Amino acid sequence: MSKILLNKTQSLRDLPIGVFDSGVGGLTVLRGLKKELPNEHFIYLGDTARLPYGTKSQETVTRYSQHACNILLKRGIKCLVVACNTATTLALPALIKTIHNIPLIGVLEPGARAAVQASKNGRIAVIATEATINSGAYQGLIQTLKPDAQVVMQACPLFVPLAEEGWLEDPVTITVAKHYLDALLEQHKPDTLVLGCTHFPALLPAISAVVHSSVQIIDSAHTTAIVVKNTLEKKGLLASSPLSIPTHFLVTDSPHRFHIMAKRFLNDDIDESQIEWVDGDFV
Ligand code: DGL
Repeated sequence: MSKILLNKTQSLRDLPIGVFDSGVGGLTVLRGLKKELPNEHFIYLGDTARLPYGTKSQETVTRYSQHACNILLKRGIKCLVVACNTATTLALPALIKTIHNIPLIGVLEPGARAAVQASKNGRIAVIATEATINSGAYQGLIQTLKPDAQVVMQACPLFVPLAEEGWLEDPVTITVAKHYLDALLEQHKPDTLVLGCTHFPALLPAISAVVHSSVQIIDSAHTTAIVVKNTLEKKGLLASSPLSIPTHFLVTDSPHRFHIMAKRFLNDDIDESQIEWVDGDFV
């Protein structure tokens, strides 16, 4: 009996960690996860057919997120990371109600915690998608952690297609960054800028070009990876030995397009055979 239980736990530990985003943005989180958890096997789903999530309603984002998570759950995963701020903000409450058997981790709280830890004067700016900004979730979380924090928010919807397009440090991207950030930085003088969308760290070269070097730029990749590691450790679910299995990618639109972007985002030599098309409508 105990031998069977041991084998069960053992095989559970060696299951992949599922990671999900609307597109390539979550790859910035995957990069952090791979760095922190080099022994693990990952399966990543980019819901590229339905991107962007950030301009859609809570009902739609919740429905898309449930589909995406079900696809990953059916593959057999030991933990699910929602590597999308929009999906974390709008869909996590619904996902929590249905996913009980494995840890479910979003990126919002780790990002808010990192910002509060980094800020010295409590003036924190958050940039994210329209949906994340309109939800007020970041502001609420930051002020729960640090009640006297002054939080200023700015939606930057054009950053998502620019990142998906790979225009990471193009002059057009710098112009867009200036348009979104100049007034906010000038008027509010934050000491910390939270990249509250997992696509935005890819645009760091363009964003850094318009933000003073004294402003700390925070993304949730590293802090989320630490939360995932601690959670797996606590539950005895870390891989029993280095798995050395290449990441498997699932996409709901063209694998070829995703392949080009994934190589750039991860700075890794991914083979196109690692990318599989799945039907996000049929689960
Ligand atoms: N990467 C997603 C996020 O963190 C948003 C991109 C989208 O609009 O789909 O919010």
